[in-house]
Amino acid sequence: MKTHKIAPSILVADFANLQRDIEMVNQSEADWFHIDIMDGVFVPNISFGMPVLKSISQHANKFIDVHLMIVDPDRYIKNFADLGSNLLTVHYEACTHLHRTLQAIKANGMQAGVALNPHTPVNLLKDVIQDIDLVCVMSVNPGFGGQSFIENTFEKVAELKELILSKNAKTLIEIDGGVTDKNAKQLVQTGADVLVAGSFVFKSKDAKKTIKILKTLEF
Ligand code: DX5
Ligand code: ZN
Repeated sequence: MKTHKIAPSILVADFANLQRDIEMVNQSEADWFHIDIMDGVFVPNISFGMPVLKSISQHANKFIDVHLMIVDPDRYIKNFADLGSNLLTVHYEACTHLHRTLQAIKANGMQAGVALNPHTPVNLLKDVIQDIDLVCVMSVNPGFGGQSFIENTFEKVAELKELILSKNAKTLIEIDGGVTDKNAKQLVQTGADVLVAGSFVFKSKDAKKTIKILKTLEF
């Protein structure tokens, strides 16, 4: 089986012990840090913002994957680059001029990602897929950790994989929301390259071991 990446979602970490949880991820077999930024407008929740991301960047020693759940993300592209983001994902539903936004993210030295809400079909990306480094397929409605995985995601991943291959693109497929031992293997087999995991990792007894299990897919 091809190698896939694991991106623990810091949204579900213990914010009173953030440095401890960041060190745990540093020392684990995780590949990336997944950072969820919510504005209370695009999604019905507010997570944390720039000062917190700045502190995370100072301690994290792995690739930083920032998932913006905010309206009009173009306003803050430079800020997120300055804060140490390696990949900046914006929502399809929040971008009127998506192509322009993707170019701006890359011009600021980051990889460019696009997230799709559960109701948004993958074929809407067909004219920009070659410009996208990563598509984040939301397998829950964005806004909260700990929700149940939406089964239709498998079909979307298969369709997206087909689109990527048909366009000869190098785009990675990321799955975000409700990832557990019940769906991880099938997601990777269907084409997922990056698995985001919040609750399954941080609410487990031994988070480092859970990351290893997701990485090896040996349940
Ligand atoms: C949801 C966020 C996710 C979330 C995943 O809006 O984008 O990254 O933290 O958490 P779990 O794995 O608990 O669904
Ligand atoms: Zn996310």
